[in-house]
Amino acid sequence: MKVAVIEGDGIGKEVIPAAVDVLNAVNLDFEQVPVEVGYGKWERTGLAMDDADLELMRSCDCILFGAITTPNDPNYQSVLLRIRQELDLYANIRPFRPLGITMDIPYKPAKPFDIIIVRENTEGLYAGIEDVNQNRACSTRVVTRKGCLRIAKTACKLAKGRGNSITIVHKANVLKSCGFFRELCIEVANENGVRYNEMLVDAMAYSLVLNPERYDVIVTTNLFGDILSDLCAALVGSLGLCPSANIGDKYALFEPVHGSAPDIAGKGIANPLAAIQSAKMMLEWVGEFEKAGLVQSAVDNVLQKGLRTVDLGGSASTNDMTKAIVEYIRSVQ
Ligand code: IPM
Ligand code: MN
Repeated sequence: MKVAVIEGDGIGKEVIPAAVDVLNAVNLDFEQVPVEVGYGKWERTGLAMDDADLELMRSCDCILFGAITTPNDPNYQSVLLRIRQELDLYANIRPFRPLGITMDIPYKPAKPFDIIIVRENTEGLYAGIEDVNQNRACSTRVVTRKGCLRIAKTACKLAKGRGNSITIVHKANVLKSCGFFRELCIEVANENGVRYNEMLVDAMAYSLVLNPERYDVIVTTNLFGDILSDLCAALVGSLGLCPSANIGDKYALFEPVHGSAPDIAGKGIANPLAAIQSAKMMLEWVGEFEKAGLVQSAVDNVLQKGLRTVDLGGSASTNDMTKAIVEYIRSVQ
């Protein structure tokens, strides 16, 4: 198996090597194909990613991705967004559950919860249809039948293996494009025998803070999913704990929800668990369920033992955390 490995910028350069160490620890048989894209490359060449980089990604089975710093340049196109578009990675899957409910994280949920956000990942307000002049800026929100059907199907498929219910999040009381999304999600849920309920996105933000345990699979449009994922990351205790998968019919990219965090980059203190669990999602995607389970139990185990990186109020370094995970895996193999 060939994995395109994109460290990117900032802490991407620290957490992706940690994730690769963990893949090696579970003895995944894979070839690493390093792809250099991002801010560093943009500074050097004026281009953050070229067509050859995309070709290299297409030649691999999947992509492990760190994070990229976006330069402050109005003409710059986000590398990540371009990859999502070009490889048609239409489903952004973001699981959120507190890792050990008794943990001393900054935020303590009253009850355990286990949420998956299924975010449409190629259209909505991210469609890239924008028009700016001196007096008016306009971003077109594109919601297509195809886009709705496939994201709703992805959500229903996930729901089947869990509580068989989805929550459709929209703002159909104001936006016609949301009414369209809502109708099609309901149609797909009914066709698949999946129960559904629905929430307006503002009410959803409120309810998620107060009662996250009420929710299971959440399906929503691109920007709403982006915003609600950061909210859920706060419920879990840190962005540094949250992994994600960007899945299409052909390609897949696995990345931590956090960004490149230039403020802490190079200090060796970034939490590698989001990247490590993204690698775990990659293992699941390639069907290596046993290895994936091993990685998850290692993560749960080191957290239960009390190891904490700085974002979780502790002082463990990226290396300390990675070493502890690798040692746990070796000890049970
Ligand atoms: C995310 C990020 C990206 C997004 C940015 C970096 C373009 O915030 O993956 O959640 O908005 O989708
Ligand atoms: Mn985001």
